[in-house]
Amino acid sequence: MPDTGLARQSTLYRAGTLGRRPVVPTDFAELERRAKRVSSAEAWAYVAGGAGEGRTVRRNREAFDRWAIEPRMAAGAVDRDLSVDLLGTRLPSPVLLAPVGAAALMGRDSDVAIATGAAATGTPYVFSNQGCHPMEASAAAMGDTPRWFQLYWSKDERLVDSLIARAERVGAGALVVTLDTTVLGWRPQDLNLGSLPFAKGLGIAQYTSDPVFREIAAERAKQPRERPRVTLGAIRALIAMSRNHPGPFWANLRSPAPRASVETFLDIYSNPGLNWEHLATLPERTGLPFVLKGILHPDDARRAFEIGAAAVVVSNHGGRQVDNAVASLDALVRIRAALGPEPTLLFDSGIRTGADVFTALALGADAVLLGRPHLYGFALAGAHGVAEVIRNVLAELDLTMALTGARTIADITRDRLRPVETPAPERDRA
Ligand code: FNR
Repeated sequence: MPDTGLARQSTLYRAGTLGRRPVVPTDFAELERRAKRVSSAEAWAYVAGGAGEGRTVRRNREAFDRWAIEPRMAAGAVDRDLSVDLLGTRLPSPVLLAPVGAAALMGRDSDVAIATGAAATGTPYVFSNQGCHPMEASAAAMGDTPRWFQLYWSKDERLVDSLIARAERVGAGALVVTLDTTVLGWRPQDLNLGSLPFAKGLGIAQYTSDPVFREIAAERAKQPRERPRVTLGAIRALIAMSRNHPGPFWANLRSPAPRASVETFLDIYSNPGLNWEHLATLPERTGLPFVLKGILHPDDARRAFEIGAAAVVVSNHGGRQVDNAVASLDALVRIRAALGPEPTLLFDSGIRTGADVFTALALGADAVLLGRPHLYGFALAGAHGVAEVIRNVLAELDLTMALTGARTIADITRDRLRPVETPAPERDRA
């Protein structure tokens, strides 16, 4: 069970009375500032950066400002229940941790630490296909806490099956297939630094731990190829790849495997030709419920449910893929209106606080995924930082429920919000 908001407040105030300030700030702006301070330029570009001019990232947040919560008084909501049923599993709250790749940029033991922090609060974690630890290691850190696996559809169908089989073996409760990243978006922050974590072998642990991928990479390593020119940059890249590759560093340095793995990965990790026929094979490939992530249009959402998806994640990947794209929250409103109350809609891209969770739920999300905030908590205080961020978000959600008279998550309905009036000058320009 999550702490109630009151218990969380009391923990923080009591510590404060004794002179201790929280290591993980309780508001997002300060959390972000401090996380930036402890991150390298490359890490910050990758994690905080967005596509193009950053319009989608901004719009994701601005969309929340167009809705206001309308508190109701004297509802006597003393005991709140944040738990929800999601795909047949009872969860302590409607919050999951979003899949994030290359988290090792932000600190040691990344995925395992994030899994540990998630489990400390009973929060499900969606393991990224671009993880820095094999899913088996992250699962081992979670005990009985639900975990899901997120897949990028590879060009190699055998690899797709192998990853799905591993997800089944680690007890994943669902398979999340991310559709919005068949190619990487235009990301100027990374491009200006010439920084791509995967090129250094960071964020490819699901691949290097996979028997099918290793076979493919070993074949490739046997093929004759041009030796790269020996430059300082090439040596640095080789050292990074050797460090990030499984096995002893010195052996890796002399082996063709780390470079072959990176090259193989870059070649096959994603299939730009992905279409609905591929996705329609999912029910015969796995007994796991599957969830399609990256949906922004009602027709795509409809199609997902037609082929048997258990849920979709309305998401624009945190504004990292298409610049000037629709805000994820606006897409949620449109999709819920088009599909009606039944289908399970998850939401991410822009959730920062408990009030944001409340707003997204009121606009039709059944649950939400927390992305960058948990990474920032991780950057500041490892597994503990992740757990603290989750506790803060849930505490605020709980207090918002108390103050608006919602006892259960089902009570958080659309009529608890009002659209914010757009000031006249802006309206005229629109
Ligand atoms: C992501 N996201 C992501 N999504 C996914 O399906 N697979 C992945 O490997 C990643 N990797 C990743 C890395 C980083 C650094 C970030 C910030 C995001 C997208 C993620 O799951 C989620 O959709 C966004 O993080 C939501 O946006 P906000 O709320 O974090 O802005």
